[in-house]
Amino acid sequence: MATLMNAAELTLATPAAEATTARISIRNLDFFYGANRALKAIDLDFAAGEVTGMIGPSGCGKSTLLRVLNRMYDLYPGQRATGQVLMDGQNILAPNIDLIQLRSRIGMVFQKPTPFPMSIEDNISFGVKLHERLSRAEMAERVEWSLTRAALWDEVKDRLGAQAGALSGGQQQRLCIARTIAVRPEVILLDEPTSALDPIGRADVRDLLLSLKARGVAVLLNSHLIGEVERVCDRVVILDRGQVAASGTLAELLGRRELRLRLGGVTAAAEARLAATGALARTGEEFTVALPADDDGVAVPELIADLVALGVRVHSVEPARISLEDRLLGILRHEEQS
Ligand SMILES: Nc1ncnc2c1ncn2[C@@H]1O[C@H](COP(=O)(O)OP(=O)(O)OP(=O)(O)O)[C@@H](O)[C@H]1O
Ligand SMILES: [Mg+2]
Repeated sequence: MATLMNAAELTLATPAAEATTARISIRNLDFFYGANRALKAIDLDFAAGEVTGMIGPSGCGKSTLLRVLNRMYDLYPGQRATGQVLMDGQNILAPNIDLIQLRSRIGMVFQKPTPFPMSIEDNISFGVKLHERLSRAEMAERVEWSLTRAALWDEVKDRLGAQAGALSGGQQQRLCIARTIAVRPEVILLDEPTSALDPIGRADVRDLLLSLKARGVAVLLNSHLIGEVERVCDRVVILDRGQVAASGTLAELLGRRELRLRLGGVTAAAEARLAATGALARTGEEFTVALPADDDGVAVPELIADLVALGVRVHSVEPARISLEDRLLGILRHEEQS
């Protein structure tokens, strides 16, 4: 499988005219399936260039929220949304919104792969043709560009005319991802996109999310894979029974990061060096140091290098923080009691 290019390369290879400022503000959103109120008074903001993860128990409303954002529910009588979803100040829930245009700006990848019953190539070009007039060469370039970013190009480049239905489940899902990014949306909604993928496919999707983010796309990712959310998301929203139970950056939700160290031969100078990094606690050979909130990855290696230079024997170094999974369970259990 093709590995994706890194974010910097992708930025250079991006077609021109990429929008970078999209931002969605949800205000007092309610959603109903008939009489069932599945979303309740939702207020959320999604910024350009950020990946937001949505987690929460089965049935809490994650898929429903994504379906609202690109007006998927419009196809179903009895389903309705109230409140506002503002994109660049315009309420996309308004009846006069052009849905084809909206869905080119807010693309969605569903949990189950849903390729169109047509060739691999046409699956990509179909949506692009609705919005742009491209020459044959430009279209071929766009098809290759999208399939490459979705890590599918190498597997299908010799059979672009083959039916999409003949691809494996994971390949179909990557085709759907390629189809979505081909129209270069400003917002991308992904509903558990990696459940049909193998571990390499999952890693490729993670790389894709980072490259989308680098291009200023706002990404919303629904997932039960908490570790995946913790790894790629800037912000996390925890939904519970149709309501926002918590939301914020990972740092806000998980609190300060710490470092646990087991050290030998710690002199007064070494202890002072440890304390210079952050609040320090010591029990025998065990030290716990709070890491600076704005650490961009240099605090730990610099500290260790300095400790070694001061003659300290470093037996173990372990980052510590409450996991997102623990935080999620804590919030959900607390809600249950209240
Ligand atoms: N088509 C539908 N008709 C009626 N009720 C629905 C429909 N789809 C979802 N619901 C209800 O809306 C609520 C939210 O469902 P939703 O699919 O958004 O949950 P979810 O968080 O995506 O769950 P999962 O993690 O299992 O995918 C649930 O109570 C569900 O029963
Ligand atoms: Mg769902």
